[in-house]
Amino acid sequence: MQFFVENNFDAAKYFDCIVLGIYHKYIMPDITKKINDISENYILTILKDNNFYGKTNQMITLYNVPNVLTKKIIIIGCGFVKKINRTVYHKIIINIIQYVKQHDIQEIFWSITDLHIHNNNYYWNIRDIINIIGDNTYIFTKFKQIKKCYLTKNFFYISSISDNNVYNALKHGVAINQGQIQAKNLANLPPNICNPKYLAEQVFKLSQIFPDKFTIEIVDENMMEKLSMNAYLSVSNGSKHKAYMSVIKYNHHHSMQPIVLVGKGLTFDSGGISLKPSLNMHEMKYDMCGAAAVYGVMYAIAKLELPLNVIGIMAGCENMPGSLALRPGDVIKTMSGITVEVKNTDAEGRLVLCDVLTYILKYKPKIVIDIATLTGACVIALGNNISGLMSNNNQLSRDIYQASIEVMNDKVWDLPLEDFYHDKQLHSSIADISNISINNAGSAITAACFLAKFTSQYKWAHIDIAGTAWNYDKDNQAIATGRPVNMLCQFLINNIHFKK
Ligand code: BES
Ligand code: MN
Ligand code: ZN
Repeated sequence: MQFFVENNFDAAKYFDCIVLGIYHKYIMPDITKKINDISENYILTILKDNNFYGKTNQMITLYNVPNVLTKKIIIIGCGFVKKINRTVYHKIIINIIQYVKQHDIQEIFWSITDLHIHNNNYYWNIRDIINIIGDNTYIFTKFKQIKKCYLTKNFFYISSISDNNVYNALKHGVAINQGQIQAKNLANLPPNICNPKYLAEQVFKLSQIFPDKFTIEIVDENMMEKLSMNAYLSVSNGSKHKAYMSVIKYNHHHSMQPIVLVGKGLTFDSGGISLKPSLNMHEMKYDMCGAAAVYGVMYAIAKLELPLNVIGIMAGCENMPGSLALRPGDVIKTMSGITVEVKNTDAEGRLVLCDVLTYILKYKPKIVIDIATLTGACVIALGNNISGLMSNNNQLSRDIYQASIEVMNDKVWDLPLEDFYHDKQLHSSIADISNISINNAGSAITAACFLAKFTSQYKWAHIDIAGTAWNYDKDNQAIATGRPVNMLCQFLINNIHFKK
């Protein structure tokens, strides 16, 4: 899929299809006016004949318009000039994409990128449209005999292209979209192919795609044993597939302490001995979406060559009920020294993550963000559109929230991490803490509180993507969303200006 920006509306004639906007009561944006003039008012006449008032999302396709070489012109209603905001803009784009998919249109000259959207600028007009095209045309065809693809070429019309912002938007939008596609492709793989070793191999491939940009370290089970990463290992014990933790170092700013991203990479979470019910268990192949997101972010920032120091970690592991599996009742000593009574082997994500969060102390991180499909409770609390955010630092939590508002379609919501939960809920009579809380009240938060025990030495935020990492398509089939790659990339871009 290719994206370009173009300031010469004359170029439109070389395309199969142009998208033109029109406001309520036939108010025409400049480019629509120009093309209508060329057609000697043919377009406006047809619209009037068809009671096309320019209501939001009213759509009509015109063929063989006089004096215009382009075969098809899609006219889309944009509603009242004063009412077009980012949400309306997004809806318009989605509508056109639905139409384009039905009619197998591969190339579009989009002119709606030139519209003045309230509270938006050209930078975000471009970032948004790339993101929305990416999300709405994505299909996972690796295992399909018939491979489709949608919208291979997109030209975005911007009248005043001199603005450097427009090229930045194109660059950022394209790289982030590619990162997101990488994350989706990895996440959608079935668990018989994408096991912990496979994840580690992808990291090697990544370093080959971007020669000299990354330093890779793979921590295998032998090394984990030497490091006393017993909590991580205890989860892996029930599976024949050995655990691999991949460390992807990207250092393009040598005087900066690293921002460390940690992704939960359970390539399958059966629950272990505390086995999950079989309904929807297949969806637990998505329990590595945190790791997939880290992969996608590392891909995008390497593409953008951001001047930052970032370390991405993919904590690959499989949770299975084998004969050596962790038992409910086991007590393990984590790398940090804290002992944990395992009351439920399905609360495995925190066991894997706690050792990783200790391991990374050696990097003296400036900021740590973990991304994890950690709790079903987070899905209950926030649903499938908003990720949970929990942090031990207010400024960090605000910065992450801010990035999510900027990108708009990758929102997070701050949940409180209060001491109250720390002390009472995770109590164990025989170990320092339990891996589950005494009841399931607020258990997205208590899971984060468990992690907080291991993160007191740095600024840390936890993003629970259990509800957002995958979603359901129109046929109610699960498909990965690539979230929160967009938000995290934005957070990192924003950090360039605040580097210390
Ligand atoms: N990976 C799951 C969380 C999950 C569940 C993500 C459903 C997405 C959809 C996690 O490992 C888990 O099983 N969590 C348990 C914790 C409980 C045992 C305290 C949960 O949420 O039920
Ligand atoms: Mn689990
Ligand atoms: Zn899990």
